[in-house]
Amino acid sequence: MSEHSDHNGHGHGEGHGTGFYFKIYLTLLVLFLISVAGPEIGEATGIRAITLVTAFGIALWKARLVINEFMHLKAEKRIMKWLLTTSVILMALMVAGVSPDVLNHRGNNWENLAAQAAVERGLAEMAGEVHEEEGTEVVEAEPAGFTAAASYGTVCATCHGAAGDGSGVAGAALDPPPANFTDPVFWEGRDRDRIITVIRDGAAAVGGSALMAPWGALYDEEQLGLMADYVMSFNPNQ
Ligand code: HEC
Repeated sequence: MSEHSDHNGHGHGEGHGTGFYFKIYLTLLVLFLISVAGPEIGEATGIRAITLVTAFGIALWKARLVINEFMHLKAEKRIMKWLLTTSVILMALMVAGVSPDVLNHRGNNWENLAAQAAVERGLAEMAGEVHEEEGTEVVEAEPAGFTAAASYGTVCATCHGAAGDGSGVAGAALDPPPANFTDPVFWEGRDRDRIITVIRDGAAAVGGSALMAPWGALYDEEQLGLMADYVMSFNPNQ
């Protein structure tokens, strides 16, 4: 893109030269070939990261082309760069601030029924008993198919880890981190009633973080007890 400097000053009504467009065309062609090759190589080698890096890398590269060449940021005054950077940073802040809420299924004055239903449906399918009525979203879990271990594995382990030590993949980025049920200190002052309350109403109900969402929609009273017992089975001192 160094050739582009030949065209500087074009911002005031002067068009780009043919060479410039040809160069952009070639760039896009190469990016296209990479975008086809990336997933193929990723698939063949089993290294998923290659697919991800090519996909996002190409998206970023194209965004850069658009911003620099067609939004003429290259030729703009410096303040435009600052304006753009500031808005991108503000957008990132907003997404980061809002996304923890999106992970919850319920909050003050709102409830994500679709997400709750999806989780219930997943659990019901796991139990092997899905009753779907034509045209409706009604799905029932057969209580007989429920096991606390299986439900823990699908719903909780992503954050709390399969071994209950708080090492789930989705938990790594959370602040506060997911509780470590294998830590004796965690169990100081925590009893079965509290665990049931937390699972049903979320940790916010006991003064903790909203990152530990309420899961009451998934379990009836009996199942809540079984979930609490399962969580308590990680206590090394019991
Ligand atoms: C999205 C990640 C996430 C998922 C999924 C999740 N938790 Fe949590 N959990 C947390 C975080 C974060 C905390 C720590 C909250 C705090 O310290 O205030 C926590 C805390 C807890 C606590 C301790 C609360 C206390 O202070 O006594 C219990 C018990 C618990 N989780 C059980 C569960 C169970 C059971 C499930 C599955 C039904 C589950 N969690 C699913 C993130 C998660």
